[in-house]
Amino acid sequence: MNAIDVENVKVVLNGKEVLDEISFRLEEAAFLSIMGPNGSGKTTLLKILLGIILPSSGQAKVFGIEPSKKPFEVRKMVGYVPQKERINLEVPLTVYDVVRMGLASRKQAPRFFTKNDRQNIEETLKLVDMWDLRNEMFANLSGGQQQRVLIARAIVHRPKLLLLDEPFNGVDVNNQKKIIEFLEKIKSDKVTIVTVTHDINPLSSLTDYVMLLNKKIISFGRPHEALDYTRLCQIYGPSVQVITGKPCPTVITGDTHA
Ligand SMILES: Nc1ncnc2c1ncn2[C@@H]1O[C@H](COP(=O)(O)OP(=O)(O)OP(=O)(O)O)[C@@H](O)[C@H]1O
Ligand SMILES: [Mg+2]
Repeated sequence: MNAIDVENVKVVLNGKEVLDEISFRLEEAAFLSIMGPNGSGKTTLLKILLGIILPSSGQAKVFGIEPSKKPFEVRKMVGYVPQKERINLEVPLTVYDVVRMGLASRKQAPRFFTKNDRQNIEETLKLVDMWDLRNEMFANLSGGQQQRVLIARAIVHRPKLLLLDEPFNGVDVNNQKKIIEFLEKIKSDKVTIVTVTHDINPLSSLTDYVMLLNKKIISFGRPHEALDYTRLCQIYGPSVQVITGKPCPTVITGDTHA
């Protein structure tokens, strides 16, 4: 079974067409990187897979299930790290509490935590190297540490599909390296991973497929096919540079967030 099946999805928000003619499939345990300029619909596409936004037409399935029809079932299978500037980081919670939220939000009331839950939280905090800081206030951590905690929150329930929206935003090279290491570990456990990124280069060793998105799918395929110079220029302009290399070409788009 495919992890993701999207068939001719169109999304209209407030009368504006945000996504159109989106069709693609992703097999289980694959790693997809989605690139595209600001406002090209990347976050919206992740939200379709989560069932937060409904397609105006067409159909999306996650492991054969439509998120809009069985949201609770899909939430149990999916982990989500939202785009950073969209989260309120001033929550008065410890690191441990934030990760525990990843379990609480998927339990039905009354929410009891079992010994197994506590073991999962400990294992996950150790995986992202944040166990020693478990009693720190989340708000006091650096951006890179916060991102590691938010990834822990997204994987503590052992999802089959992990969605990350610009995980390297505001994260320095050392923290990026740590994040890449544990994404490699998660991938080797057969988790399917979809990452939205403005910079494909740190993810080149992990990426099986690349999607270039600009309301429609401009290209989709293996990195060397999808990162086609002409198509990159089409969405980023002529200042794009592509340096051929293995396993993935190096791409300099200059595209980022302020
Ligand atoms: N809830 C909403 N209501 C109306 N318009 C929306 C809504 N969410 C997103 N949009 C619009 O849809 C378009 C795509 O937004 P989206 O957030 O998916 O882009 P993005 O590719 O993730 O951009 P960025 O790189 O800036 O994160 C934008 O024009 C945005 O203004
Ligand atoms: Mg976005």
